[in-house]
Amino acid sequence: MQLDIFNNKKVLVTGHTGFKGAWLSIWLEQLGARVTGLGLGPLHEEGVFSASGIGQRMADHRCDIRDLDAVLAVFEAEQPDIVFHLAAQALVLDGYRDPAGTFAINTQGTANILEAIRLTPSVRAAVLVTTDKCYENQEWVYGYRETDPMGGHDPYSASKGAAELIISSYRRSYFSKPGTAAIASGRAGNVIGGGDWSGFRLVPDIIRAVQAGQTLEIRSPAAIRPWQHVVEPLGGYLMLAQKLWLEPDRYAEAWNFGPLPNNQHRVGAVVDAFFEYFRQHAPAHLPGSRTAGWRDVSDPAQPHEAGLLMLDISKAIHRLGWCPVLDFRETVQLTADWYIRFSQENVLDLCRQHIKHYETLWNSRNEN
Ligand SMILES: NC(=O)c1ccc[n+]([C@@H]2O[C@H](COP(=O)([O-])OP(=O)(O)OC[C@H]3O[C@@H](n4cnc5c(N)ncnc54)[C@H](O)[C@@H]3O)[C@@H](O)[C@H]2O)c1
Repeated sequence: MQLDIFNNKKVLVTGHTGFKGAWLSIWLEQLGARVTGLGLGPLHEEGVFSASGIGQRMADHRCDIRDLDAVLAVFEAEQPDIVFHLAAQALVLDGYRDPAGTFAINTQGTANILEAIRLTPSVRAAVLVTTDKCYENQEWVYGYRETDPMGGHDPYSASKGAAELIISSYRRSYFSKPGTAAIASGRAGNVIGGGDWSGFRLVPDIIRAVQAGQTLEIRSPAAIRPWQHVVEPLGGYLMLAQKLWLEPDRYAEAWNFGPLPNNQHRVGAVVDAFFEYFRQHAPAHLPGSRTAGWRDVSDPAQPHEAGLLMLDISKAIHRLGWCPVLDFRETVQLTADWYIRFSQENVLDLCRQHIKHYETLWNSRNEN
């Protein structure tokens, strides 16, 4: 993985205080970029952003993406070369609770970021992050391709499908001429990795159960999801941005960054794999790692969530040269390792170690 264009570039990351944005900011800083963040305040003291102190190593702007003037002011002040847009209301259940707020952040907010890119000539490349849930889900057994229709049953999914249409409209209307910014979208599935503490996400719930030694209640243990470590799609977004920078005409489109088919697993199997790892390592500061367990609390009346959702990643493999490298066991181990170590070690160093480890694996497995 040769990510050499970022050195000394001004890179703006929206959602830098969130789970994926903080990891991406750490990675970009490691690549020599001058990183600017644009987002709301961090929600979790033990999240990657706060615990790593990355905010002190970058320009850290608190700004609501629904406020176009505020967004424009940050772009005007920072004059970024490259933009990664990750700021979002990112949870399906919060989308059910606050559909209007979710649509405002994920659709109008995305339009505001595109508008700021349009009005800031320094920007040459941008990757806007949506999700695998942007597709009209047919519950079929094969993966969705980038050409499949957008859709979304629940408000979060529909807001991301709509964001994709907004990105496509801006690209066709404003960014198709030579000399304009190259704009792409990245669609990835559920990611796991150290430092995610969001409510109603599986890994944070597992960790809370392990910390407390309690029984974890699982809503959809039979649902099959694609599982990926957070560094896998982030590596894809970085490779994509590099390609956009070097060859703007060839890559300005939508890209799937899902796992290989053997990383698609039932929710229940993921929980079992985590508890097994914690039982094996049973660190003294996490006494609950020996005793935590789970039980099925599926309720037919619970809000609809997609049961089966897979991405076809052939395009990213063949045209970008990106391919996931961590198998299911490694994905779980790297994630659990972070949660075992974070309270005892320097979190910035821990994240950097995980990124370096991933780059080394990537290089050795993609040599042939
Ligand atoms: N984590 C996943 O499993 C996953 C899966 C698929 C797609 N995604 C997408 O990846 C992106 C990042 O997800 P995440 O897991 O890091 O989410 P997160 O909830 O951890 O972080 C969200 C970030 O967006 C910012 N934000 C929210 N509302 C904002 C607003 N009104 N104005 C400015 N900033 C705002 C927050 O401050 C935070 O920095 C999102 O677009 C999400 O939809 C995430």
